[in-house]
Amino acid sequence: MEKNKLKKTAGIVIDILMYVLLLAQMMIVFTGSLIHEFMGIAFFVCLIAHIIMKSWWRKAVLRNKKPERIFFDIVTILLLLSIIAMVISGMGVSRTIFPWFEHFQSVDIHRYLATSVLTLGAVHGMMHFVFRAKKKKKAVILTAVIAAACLAIGLAAVPYMNRHLKMVEISYDEKVTGEKAAWDGKALVVYFTRVGNTDFEEDIDAVSGASLLKADGELMGSDELLSDMLCDITGLESKAITLTGKKYPSSYADTVSVAGDEKSSSARPEIESIDISGYDDIILIYPLWWGDIPMPVATFLEQNDLSGKTIHLIATQGSAGFGASTDTVKKLADGADVKEVMSIYCEDIPDARERLLEWVKEA
Ligand SMILES: Cc1cc2nc3c(=O)[nH]c(=O)nc-3n(C[C@H](O)[C@H](O)[C@H](O)COP(=O)(O)O)c2cc1C
Repeated sequence: MEKNKLKKTAGIVIDILMYVLLLAQMMIVFTGSLIHEFMGIAFFVCLIAHIIMKSWWRKAVLRNKKPERIFFDIVTILLLLSIIAMVISGMGVSRTIFPWFEHFQSVDIHRYLATSVLTLGAVHGMMHFVFRAKKKKKAVILTAVIAAACLAIGLAAVPYMNRHLKMVEISYDEKVTGEKAAWDGKALVVYFTRVGNTDFEEDIDAVSGASLLKADGELMGSDELLSDMLCDITGLESKAITLTGKKYPSSYADTVSVAGDEKSSSARPEIESIDISGYDDIILIYPLWWGDIPMPVATFLEQNDLSGKTIHLIATQGSAGFGASTDTVKKLADGADVKEVMSIYCEDIPDARERLLEWVKEA
């Protein structure tokens, strides 16, 4: 009897620990990748313990024909499959513990799988409550609300936090300098980034701290950092796309709103001119804004004669792949040969030098 009670308590503790670990892993923006990866291993250990403890379920699965039991079994099977896929993709995107595992390396897929595990896990856990509840209808509604909240956390709240609360501090030399590789042809690196184009308030740490980077204590644009890495690798020169008129507001949320208005009105904010006449290739680096190029980048493309040139694209993004930006550049850069974009997830920017080096070698 005592043994059974102990087993039950241990089971509940492990289940709670799994939810806590999953939620904590979603806060990678605060924990960093090393702690995230260790928590992933702890989650996997808890899962094995959970499966061993629930050995009765393996024998009973899909045997009970009651609709709610069948639903529970289907949710549990989907949950298990999602967890397995999440663990494998987690090894694929691991930077520290499993860097040798080179399959399923999509951060986006890993995050969608985590959302699926969180949501199915909540339904799986709540079903135990539904089975016992006297007021079944209320219990079912509560389960649906919690599942919807889990979906919203995974699909909206976590990407939002990653963009809003990120203040990464790096050592410039450590991230930027290293192995070189020549670029074949005369090329100019052109980049657009928020820093230099935003009216940041004096105390930026206290204001928004949004999606910002400090290199040796100085505020720096993420895409400027990529540009510097590329220039260090290739020895090429770079130019920033710089607004001449009104800059973007300090608040990240306000910038998102202004950029949304600019995109829907196809605005062309004025920028300083950039002389590209002596170059065959343009390497264009930009952040994805509203799934597309920022409008000052559109100004750059329309303002210059790009016919006969080759444009290589590097887009940074916060959640949703690389959007429609290649097609937009193709439309605006008349007569240019536009290569398919390489997309870099915003959290990976400080450690992107190795990827850029490989990209240069393959270009
Ligand atoms: C105005 C604005 C709109 C954005 N829209 C998107 C988007 O549609 N999809 C996406 O994945 N990231 C989006 N992001 C996130 C940026 O792409 C990401 O923060 C950027 O690539 C990193 O560069 P930064 O640190 O210079 O902002 C947006 C950011 C801003 C400021």
